[in-house]
Amino acid sequence: MQARKESGVTVRDTGLDVAFPDGSSAYFNYFWLRDNCRTSFNDVTRERTFDIFAEATAPEPLEIRLSDAVLDIVWHGGHNSRYPLDFLASYAAGKPRHDPADLPRRAWFSDHYPDVPRYSQPALLADPDLRKAWFETILTEGVALITDMPETPDALETTAAMAGYVRPSFFGNAFEVMTHINPTNTAYTASALELHTDLPSEEFAPGIQYLHCVANSVEGGNSVFVDAVAVANDFREQYPEDFRLLAETEIPYYCEHDAFDMRARQRVIELDAHGAVSGVTISQHMADIFDLPQTFLDLYYPAFHRFGRMLQDEKYVMRFRLSDGECICFDNHRVVHGREAYTATSGDRHLRGCYTDRGEMRSAYRVLSGTGRFK
Ligand SMILES: [Fe+2]
Repeated sequence: MQARKESGVTVRDTGLDVAFPDGSSAYFNYFWLRDNCRTSFNDVTRERTFDIFAEATAPEPLEIRLSDAVLDIVWHGGHNSRYPLDFLASYAAGKPRHDPADLPRRAWFSDHYPDVPRYSQPALLADPDLRKAWFETILTEGVALITDMPETPDALETTAAMAGYVRPSFFGNAFEVMTHINPTNTAYTASALELHTDLPSEEFAPGIQYLHCVANSVEGGNSVFVDAVAVANDFREQYPEDFRLLAETEIPYYCEHDAFDMRARQRVIELDAHGAVSGVTISQHMADIFDLPQTFLDLYYPAFHRFGRMLQDEKYVMRFRLSDGECICFDNHRVVHGREAYTATSGDRHLRGCYTDRGEMRSAYRVLSGTGRFK
């Protein structure tokens, strides 16, 4: 097709330039325009029903009209498309669509416990605005306390269901953190549990974790939580080369017992789409034997060791005691957690835990923000 200028539009072989009323202009590809005609989407299912793969040839415009607010195109084959200019303007820069759940993270340190946001479970169930505040807390700070948990067997699952479907692990839909006979996991003993994120042995480790304190009358057993974003940001500044190694190298994790043999490779430091630290994956009790070249380990192990030591620095470690009726909710990729040893004979300690995924919490947050394309 010959490029030609007509009333604010420059027609090119592969697309067209549109002049906007504010004096700016932008280029749009014909495939993109045809694929994203408003009629391509079904208002009921909200899904695209137009199938561009069913078109034998590249879309080609027959007639183009531009007004102050709308671009009209009649395509070869006769289909009419109408594009509001504000719709076109929102895609003009070729940048990712605005995501209300893509929020900057606030790092926290050892003194954070009094400031951890608290939400009453019955109030959360009743109030969508409060649920939105809870999700925003997890997205920005990674940890929140849910109080006034009912003493019912399904209280944990009911709470988690507000943020997504409960997703199972080898330990079931929910797991019981208490002393077990023949334990399959260090968590099920009275020993101290070193700082870790849960189940790095899974290809997609659980995103959000919930621990409902059903009973805690033992001596010891304090919870130990660290914001890995705070640590990794400082680590990045102080040891940039070590940071790069931990952010780029996949190491093996495992979870093996009689009936399972789960293995996955993970990066210790996780970065988001902006290159910012979004979390870590770390667990001494699930780290497999590093099957990397020994000369590479000359570089990697000192970096790994330095980072693990930094995680334990008192500057970052928040210690607190979970009480009956509380449920701690946290981002399992961001909040590295553990517990101090306790004396099993001194009383009862019973936490019920489960997981949902990060993506489902972001979805719930977007819905409550009312920012979908079909609003
Ligand atoms: Fe854990």
